[in-house]
Amino acid sequence: MQQMIDQIRQQADSELESAQDSKTLNDFRVKFLGRKGPVQQLMKELKGVSSEERPAAGKAINDLKQYIEKRCCQLEEQVVSKELEEQLEKEVIDVTLPGRSRFLGGKHLLHQELDHIVDILVSMGFSVQDGPHIEGEWYNFEALRITKDHPARDMQDTFYIDPETVLRTHTSNVQPRIMEANKPPIRVIVPGRAFRNEDVSARSHVFFHQIEGFYIDKGVTFADLFGTMNDFLHKLFGKKVPTRFRPSYFPFVEPGMEVDVSCFLCDGKGCPVCKKTGWLEVAGAGMIHPGVLENCDIDPEEYSGYAWGMGLERLVMIKHGIDDIRLFTQNDMRFLRQFVGM
Ligand code: PHE
Repeated sequence: MQQMIDQIRQQADSELESAQDSKTLNDFRVKFLGRKGPVQQLMKELKGVSSEERPAAGKAINDLKQYIEKRCCQLEEQVVSKELEEQLEKEVIDVTLPGRSRFLGGKHLLHQELDHIVDILVSMGFSVQDGPHIEGEWYNFEALRITKDHPARDMQDTFYIDPETVLRTHTSNVQPRIMEANKPPIRVIVPGRAFRNEDVSARSHVFFHQIEGFYIDKGVTFADLFGTMNDFLHKLFGKKVPTRFRPSYFPFVEPGMEVDVSCFLCDGKGCPVCKKTGWLEVAGAGMIHPGVLENCDIDPEEYSGYAWGMGLERLVMIKHGIDDIRLFTQNDMRFLRQFVGM
């Protein structure tokens, strides 16, 4: 029996030599101390040993078992601390490395420019107002003298919600709302969305933004409108860009006009963007029609006013040389990122 014990001890010693990681060590433990291992085998054989020799043999087997267990524990400590060290080395963090910056996103180009436009107009004395997107025919059309059979209704392809309710086709719907609720002097701007049932293309979309502006007081004249438009456009385009005022027609202004700025691409010489005219249209404007003032209980004998409406997308496209209105809403990061934090 002693011989077997010595043999097992020797074998265990030699196998332990090569147990350098926790897996081999575990396998070793199962192999030597497990139920089918040699130590348990010796225990079973103890039955066949004579009763005089049994205590000594039993002790010897126990010693062997304890010896192996102790060696295992010692080795385990070494192996585990070595493995931990290796792992820590692998995971070491260099706190001196510069951080990786993350893209946090930013304000959409349209909103950056809208903020800028609003800042300019507020500094010129206008206050900002809001109005509904879903609008009754009265405010969107009738109060503005666009009657049911008026050809001007064809000018604006309308989304109808029901026969009397529309998605506003322009921000001008807020003009009568504000005139009704306030006494002049009134000097407001209304930035917001408008909707038109048009084919989506590089030049037009079913929704877009406008900035409406109007001023009503005693003695407001066309000259005030010229001055305001010129001042605003020069502040927006950052230089004394030439402007042009062209007669035009809107039922709610008289006289009416369209405001152009000199084409930024060709400096007014004529190119494909300005369709060889040298000019880019940026706003519709005019003196508020006396009939509109009357519709809103403002006496046209006492008060006069001017109004304008301009498309935000159009202004931004002109300013940044963007050739497709759809880019604003396609959420293509390659487009959007160019304008982060301008
Ligand atoms: N509402 C007009 C449009 O959408 C623009 C406009 C506003 C014209 C105010 C004159 C005065 O085309």
